[in-house]
Amino acid sequence: VGQNLIKLSAVDSTNNFLKNLVSNSEPLPEGTVIMADDQFAGRGQQNNVWKAEPGKNLTFSILLKPTFLAVDKQFFLNLSVSIAINNVLTRILGKNTSIKWPNDLYFGDQKLGGVLIENTLVGNTIKNSIVGIGINVNQQHFEEELTVTATSVFQILQKDVNLLNLLADICSEVESLYLQLRTGKHTNLKENYVDKLYHLNKPALYQKDGEVFEGIIKGVSDAGLLQVEQHGERLEFNFKELTFLNH
Ligand code: BTN
Repeated sequence: VGQNLIKLSAVDSTNNFLKNLVSNSEPLPEGTVIMADDQFAGRGQQNNVWKAEPGKNLTFSILLKPTFLAVDKQFFLNLSVSIAINNVLTRILGKNTSIKWPNDLYFGDQKLGGVLIENTLVGNTIKNSIVGIGINVNQQHFEEELTVTATSVFQILQKDVNLLNLLADICSEVESLYLQLRTGKHTNLKENYVDKLYHLNKPALYQKDGEVFEGIIKGVSDAGLLQVEQHGERLEFNFKELTFLNH
């Protein structure tokens, strides 16, 4: 991963750019990475926008071809990529890092980065997977509405980090987790992921259909549903259903 690196100075979204190359049948090796200094129309989960100050952050997309992964195991790619990024962030930032389900990268109660994976399916398998990763690295300030919820490596360490070195570390860790995924060690991967989950085993407030309840995150299902215990009963939620509340 990252051997074939295409660096762009500006692009709407690295995911879009890579998706266009792939759909124009551009012969790209697996592991190709598209990165951009300035991504001016970055996309996040659930139609959110992803904003990052140009030249200060990592915004990139990796092309993977996980043809070995059945569609009903798609979530295991999200899980592997999240573990990989979290591993690298933990090395530089310490134990306060976690993965907020399904694949947000957290430090304490603040978001450091996110992942947007877009798969092309053929029958029951995944043909191409565009793994988009955005990490707040050297950005010092966030706009008003993000100051409470977002953070960056700079804000935590009070120093700049070399973007290309960090990119290289993430690429090699993604590769290593991807190889584990390929060997089919799903149970191990899931245990590893659950272990790193934000709010694991801690009572916290969640909201579903306008109703607030206290629950305790216990794990995830193979399909990626979040398992939350409420009054001793285990409930499963998909990510459109459940909101984490501040507490
Ligand atoms: C999220 O947390 O909602 C996911 C954010 C994903 C952002 C990255 S930045 C590189 C890639 N290109 C995009 O347009 N989005 C992803």
